[in-house]
Amino acid sequence: MIEIRDLHKRYGAHEVLKGVSLNVEAGQVVCLIGPSGSGKSTVLRCINGLETYEGGEIRAFGQPVDVRSPAIRQLRCRMGMVFQRFNLFAHRSVLDNVMEGPVHVLGQARGPARALALDLLDKVGLVDKAQAYPAQLSGGQQQRVAIARALAMKPEAMLFDEPTSALDPELVGDVLEVMRALAREGMTMIVVTHEMGFAREVADRVCFLHSGTIVEEGSSAQVLGAPRHARTQDFLRRVLHQPAQATLEPTP
Ligand SMILES: Nc1ncnc2c1ncn2[C@@H]1O[C@H](COP(=O)(O)OP(=O)(O)OP(=O)(O)O)[C@@H](O)[C@H]1O
Ligand SMILES: [Mg+2]
Repeated sequence: MIEIRDLHKRYGAHEVLKGVSLNVEAGQVVCLIGPSGSGKSTVLRCINGLETYEGGEIRAFGQPVDVRSPAIRQLRCRMGMVFQRFNLFAHRSVLDNVMEGPVHVLGQARGPARALALDLLDKVGLVDKAQAYPAQLSGGQQQRVAIARALAMKPEAMLFDEPTSALDPELVGDVLEVMRALAREGMTMIVVTHEMGFAREVADRVCFLHSGTIVEEGSSAQVLGAPRHARTQDFLRRVLHQPAQATLEPTP
């Protein structure tokens, strides 16, 4: 469904991705882990057609992902993206935030768009907040609205860039639960995360990125439980020594 071959990306003189290859099949959940600056967000932004790249190839749903292609907007609509910061429209209600894409981008009538939005808000446990404004919600609730908003476009794949890392620890669980439910429904997902418990539990595959290269890739049990590469071992040792948020225990 998503295929990356030998992706090279630079910012000026700085080579940020040095030949990244990754295949994601329909229904798979792939977690990208790695230290800050290793290129995780850049990989997602390239997949979503938000960045140019100098070498290699990205295909999504069988089509080339190319920022300069006129087809890119349509391709982008087929992938939902959720960022670390929820960037909801502050002056619109939760319901309007979720309806925005279907109405203004897909040209749906308001009636069906509203019904879909309410369904999705129900799914993320926030239907009672439909009329609230983003500022009246906790960070975790806002992030769940952001997920509902992405799902309203009926994406075929979802890309998550550290969706819980800006949240207070007690708000992380509800967001991960929504993501777990999506994975169970068979959504194709690429998730950049520091939540090792989530990765171990949900990921079909874990890729460890270091300095723009995937140094280790395998099942979550292998990469997280018995990492082969010294850099992976070192990273996991550091991440797992941080408190609460980054424990190998599945989030309750
Ligand atoms: N717009 C940009 N211009 C120049 N350099 C950039 C830009 N965006 C990212 N970089 C650089 O590219 C490298 C990879 O960044 P990226 O955001 O992909 O890392 P990351 O793995 O997502 O890190 P983090 O865990 O901190 O989010 C970093 O060295 C970063 O400084
Ligand atoms: Mg990042």
